[in-house]
Amino acid sequence: MSDRGFTVWFTGLSGAGKTTIAHRLEQVLRERALKVEVLDGDVVRTHLSKGLGYSKEDRDTHIRRVGFVCHLLARNGVAAIAAAISPYREIRDEVRAQNGDFVEVYVKCPLEVLQQRDVKGLYAKALRGEIPNFTGVSDPYEEPLDPEVVLETDRETEEESLAKVVAKLEELGYLAPVGERTVVGTEL
Ligand code: ADX
Repeated sequence: MSDRGFTVWFTGLSGAGKTTIAHRLEQVLRERALKVEVLDGDVVRTHLSKGLGYSKEDRDTHIRRVGFVCHLLARNGVAAIAAAISPYREIRDEVRAQNGDFVEVYVKCPLEVLQQRDVKGLYAKALRGEIPNFTGVSDPYEEPLDPEVVLETDRETEEESLAKVVAKLEELGYLAPVGERTVVGTEL
C-alpha cells in the first residue's frame, strides 16, 4: 500500500451531509495513520476565500482555490478532503484534472428533503427570495455524471454512507483494507 496522497471531493447541495461525512471520513483515515486535512467550503470562505460571494465567477474562484490547496496537500502525501457545493461540473472536472488522484463523492439528497430538514433555515429564506442565487432554488447545481461514489443521504444511515466511501478508497488502493486478519495461515 502506497502512502501517496489523494483528494476526496464531496459535492452536493447545501445541507445534504457533505461536512458530516467528510469529518467522519477524517476520523477513519486518522485511525488508519494517514495525514488528513479537511477543507470545508463554509470554513474556507472565512479566510482563504474571504470576500467572495455566490456569483458563478466567485464560486469558480473559490473552488479553484480549494482544489489548488488539495493539490498541494495531496502531492505531499496528505489525504485532502474537500466539502463544498461546487455546483459547476466544468470546474470540478478542472480540479480533477489538476489533482490526478481524485475521488468525487456526490452527496445526493432530494431538494424536498433538504427543504424539510433546513437545518440552517436557508432554504426557507431562499424560497422567500431573501437569498439570491441560492443553489438548488434560484441557482444551478450540475450533478456529477460519473462520480466515484454516490451517497443517498435521505435513505442511508451516516454509517452506510461512510462505509461506501471507505470501501471505494480501499478498492482504488488508497486505503489498506482491514479485517482480514490471519495468524500463521489460520483465519480468525
Ligand atoms: S460553493 O457553491 O461556493 O461551493 P460552499 O460550499 O463554499 O459553496 O458554501 C455553501 C454554503 O454557503 C451553504 O451551505 C450555505 O450555508 C451558504 N450560502 C450562503 N449563500 C448561499 C447561496 N446563495 N448558495 C448556496 N449556499 C449559500
